Amino acid sequence: MNTLKGLLLAGGTGSRLRPLTYTGAKQLIPVANRPILFYAIDAMVTAGITEIGVIIGDTGQEVKNALGDGNQFGCHFTFIPQEAPLGLAHAVKVAHNFLSDSPFLMFLGDNLLRGGLNRLAQRFRDGHYAASILLTEVDNPSQFGVAVVEDGRVVRLIEKPTDPPSRLALVGAYCFAPRIHEAIERLTPSWRGEYEITDAIQSLIDDALPVDATLVEGWWKDTGRPEDVLEANRLVLEDLQTRRQGVVDNESRIEGRVAIEESAEIRRSTIRGPVSIAAHAVVEDSYIGPYTSIGPGVRILHTEIENSVVLSDSQITGVRDRIDQSLIGRGVTVQGIRSRPRAVHLILGDQSQVDL
Ligand code: TTP
Repeated sequence: MNTLKGLLLAGGTGSRLRPLTYTGAKQLIPVANRPILFYAIDAMVTAGITEIGVIIGDTGQEVKNALGDGNQFGCHFTFIPQEAPLGLAHAVKVAHNFLSDSPFLMFLGDNLLRGGLNRLAQRFRDGHYAASILLTEVDNPSQFGVAVVEDGRVVRLIEKPTDPPSRLALVGAYCFAPRIHEAIERLTPSWRGEYEITDAIQSLIDDALPVDATLVEGWWKDTGRPEDVLEANRLVLEDLQTRRQGVVDNESRIEGRVAIEESAEIRRSTIRGPVSIAAHAVVEDSYIGPYTSIGPGVRILHTEIENSVVLSDSQITGVRDRIDQSLIGRGVTVQGIRSRPRAVHLILGDQSQVDL
């Protein structure tokens, strides 16, 4: 078999993650202070995939800048612009030239898989399948592509069914033989106006071609919504290694697994891990509780925060209540008010969310 190429999807709209996605790619939102997309690339490279096509959309330049040529990951990238996010099958279509007649592994750049991609790639390489997919049991199958499996083979697939025939949802990782391109050529847009990869796989099944399915080992997380990013941050921080590169003064307490990067400064504060504190962050007279990632250049002063992700260069000062379950963007200012009247002042971008 030809070597397996990679197709990484980093286009899309990211509408559910607004306002963060007004100014940046959703796949570059960090969890544990590393862009989500980087974990996907590591998983591909670890599975032996080094020739990777990256689908990019409106945020393409930012993605290119973050990824470079692939050297830092041990792979080579080819960037493939998609003129509009017309669906996962459309992304494969625009990548056809790059993929040529190679089999390939497609992975959604906003998905995280604890167990990696090795097993999926290996099953596909060892078998003679038209496609191999990953599945996981979910409580709300109507929000996913759903599969019906008999004797390890997929017999039916439906995108976001109103009446789900099983609880097995498709996870965002797929292997395909080049035959998929023919199936995609024949597709018409679905009710939601997208070229669906599930319809393309269904047409392989209709042509009596073998489609293999295996269950995910470990956790899988799609980071489509803010609460998913926080959950992904928690899951990734579970595996955090302790590091102490920044400066911690004698009046501070560090408990549990905490990574403090170079030039970060902690003064008169308690940090209770797992917590990741990026370079040049400053924490003073504050409490940083479990499952929190503090981004580069962030300043946390006289504040308590936990279960949260703060992106770069934001400043949080003197907030009276503990901040919990919060996703805070770049260059944001949040400050407590001491003067009377004690009112709430808000200057919020479009589609921000504040719970008071
Ligand atoms: P989705 O999460 O389905 O779509 P989205 O990113 O546009 O988000 P939203 O629904 O909040 O507007 O996409 C899954 C992944 O695939 C994501 O990383 C974006 C990428 N993608 C493309 O690159 N091209 C496409 O045409 C589509 C639909 C998605």
